[in-house]
Amino acid sequence: MHITLRQLEVFAAVASHESFTRAAEALHLSQPGVSMQIKQLESSIGLPLFEHVGKKIFLTDAGREMYNYSQGISHLLDEAEDVLETLKGVQSGKLAISVATTASHFATRLLAAFSHRYEGVTISLDITNRESLRHQLENNVPDLVIMGQPPENMDVESETFMENPLVMIAPANHPLVKEKNIPLSKFENEHFVVRESGSGTRDAIQRVFDEHGVTFRTGIEMTSNEAIKQAVEAGLGLGIVSIHTLELELETQRLVILDVENFPILRYWYILQRKGKRLSPVAQAFKQFVLDEASKFIRLPK
Ligand code: PGA
Repeated sequence: MHITLRQLEVFAAVASHESFTRAAEALHLSQPGVSMQIKQLESSIGLPLFEHVGKKIFLTDAGREMYNYSQGISHLLDEAEDVLETLKGVQSGKLAISVATTASHFATRLLAAFSHRYEGVTISLDITNRESLRHQLENNVPDLVIMGQPPENMDVESETFMENPLVMIAPANHPLVKEKNIPLSKFENEHFVVRESGSGTRDAIQRVFDEHGVTFRTGIEMTSNEAIKQAVEAGLGLGIVSIHTLELELETQRLVILDVENFPILRYWYILQRKGKRLSPVAQAFKQFVLDEASKFIRLPK
């Protein structure tokens, strides 16, 4: 049986996402590329690994066996990599960080400061949504994750390092700009420009509206905070974003923060890894750096 680690990686991604398309997205490959790797793997093994029922795919018995082995092999490889990273020490290791979309607004600054301090370290940064961070944690992809709320029902070691206030933004000429302590109920009929479902920000907003018995009406959905700010500025609706995404827009008064009752919605940023994961010296150094010094490098708008 001649199989490659790449084939196993592609196979594990299809099995865990239960989809060729989503696996292709996660691995930054084309869908035909993924199908080809699976075909080659199946022909080396001599058995089908997936069966297609309607639009869904399921592992065959052989697929399930192979999945267990692929998980074991992948854990062994991770362990080997961790041990080798430990031997390299902090000066020349590798660091794989995954962050939630909103955290990307400050994560690059943190990574820049860290890499100036440890010049030999090679860093990779993946920016993605909460759902995909969850998958990555399950599959032990990143060394560390930065997100707005540790995932539920998963054993992680998480620590909080900074506040993440969510504010309501409006264009500078909005009629409510000068009002104080505006009741949340005033926004009952407002259509907000919102992040995609699966975004931590969106979940938090929905919770606060639900808690106060106010309907949260969603208008246009966008996967980027930058796009939301531009849409709000263009008058497509109000928005609710983390204060970390705002800087120039407030300074240049292209957007304003409305003074709304129960706002800002107070959240926190967490840095975390799967429980039991052995952090390399570089990952440990980065985690400590974030916990001790993050606020020094992150400028919040006044
Ligand atoms: P986002 O925010 O997923 O809305 O980008 C990060 C988070 O709150 O987890």
